[in-house]
Amino acid sequence: MSLDRNLLLKLAAEYGTPLYVYDGDQVLKCYRDLFAFIPYSKLRIHYAMKANYNPALLRLLEQAGASLDTVSPAEVLLGLRAGFSRERIIYTANNMTDAEVAMVHDLGVLMNIGSLSRLEKFGKAYPGSPVCLRFNPDVRDGDSEKTMTAGDLTKFGILMDDVDTAAEIARKYRLKVTGLHEHTGSGLQQTESVFQSMKNLMGLVTPQRFPDLEFMDFGGGFKVPYRPDEARIDYVAMGRTIAELFEAFCHAYGRKLTLCFEPGKYIVAEAGCLLTEVNTLKKNRSRCIAGCNSGFPQLIRPVLYGAYHRIDNLSNPDGTPQTYDICGNICETGDRFAEQRAIPEIREGDVLAIRNAGAYCYSMGSVYNLRPMPAEVLVLNGRTKLVRKALTNRQLIDQIMKESE
Ligand code: LLP
Repeated sequence: MSLDRNLLLKLAAEYGTPLYVYDGDQVLKCYRDLFAFIPYSKLRIHYAMKANYNPALLRLLEQAGASLDTVSPAEVLLGLRAGFSRERIIYTANNMTDAEVAMVHDLGVLMNIGSLSRLEKFGKAYPGSPVCLRFNPDVRDGDSEKTMTAGDLTKFGILMDDVDTAAEIARKYRLKVTGLHEHTGSGLQQTESVFQSMKNLMGLVTPQRFPDLEFMDFGGGFKVPYRPDEARIDYVAMGRTIAELFEAFCHAYGRKLTLCFEPGKYIVAEAGCLLTEVNTLKKNRSRCIAGCNSGFPQLIRPVLYGAYHRIDNLSNPDGTPQTYDICGNICETGDRFAEQRAIPEIREGDVLAIRNAGAYCYSMGSVYNLRPMPAEVLVLNGRTKLVRKALTNRQLIDQIMKESE
């Protein structure tokens, strides 16, 4: 991996910490690997930009030929600014307002609709338009209850039982259903879940019910390992089965459709890390506390999902391992990147790398406690570039004052 210890320490010294660092070459490799894994000629990858919307990463993926999965009007606008043409963008928001539907429709971006109520309103407002329908695939999988998006407890998608009603509404308004979509969850643990969701969605299709299909979109959710002992999924075997299932489906449908997936984590998670510096060591009777100059608003996954992120002590890799609570600088006890983690001895001033921080880390950040988000640096082709500056404290409060005038 190109984000090695020496490079990261050099970047920490040059740009200061906290700092997000991304390996652009690895992002491109992950994107391209998907085409090697899934041997199907009409494959389209919509990068789920919610995972990381840094414009430099978006431009990189745009140039590599990726399409985009977007979930808000601002994501669409940013995607367009980063160079994606409207034909390469799909809009999969939920609980959309009429105003945002109008905006996205006027921009010419394909709408993916996941409720009968919105479908009816969309048909009435824009009869004759192309549309994609999102179904709930009824397969429960994911790395957290909070990010499973199928089954009875989720707000997403049209129930498969309602497929005829959905097709009828589309017919009533002459909507051209060009695609069907499902997303099972994030961090899918079982490849069988991917296959089952595909089968469930493909099972809804007959040429009579959906005569105008151009693509089928089976969402994101491809898992990457976070824990050291976690196995990597055999994506070669998985890709082969995916292609076989889809070929058979297209044969029965009578036309070779485009096969779409929309991964976020898989493309960017492992390519990023957050560098933070330990400034305070404390022994609280049974616990050693290592206090850092970042906190959960800047990387919330451990607190929000109980997610595990590997943490390396870059400054003392050969130190004798000790057990620490690695804490942030925020006013809450729960503000921990790791609890009771064995890691080479930490000294004040050591720089830690929180790994697998390319997806859903910066993008879920906030300025709680009024600490500006870290800067972001991209490493690409042996060169490093600051791709987003951090606000200074003064810039942050100037912005707040200005917005409240
Ligand atoms: N498509 C749809 C419709 C989605 O809702 C999502 C993720 C994706 C694609 C991309 O999923 P991915 O390939 O990245 O797993 N914040 C959570 C993950 C939330 C995912 C939300 N939707 C986390 O940090 O684990």
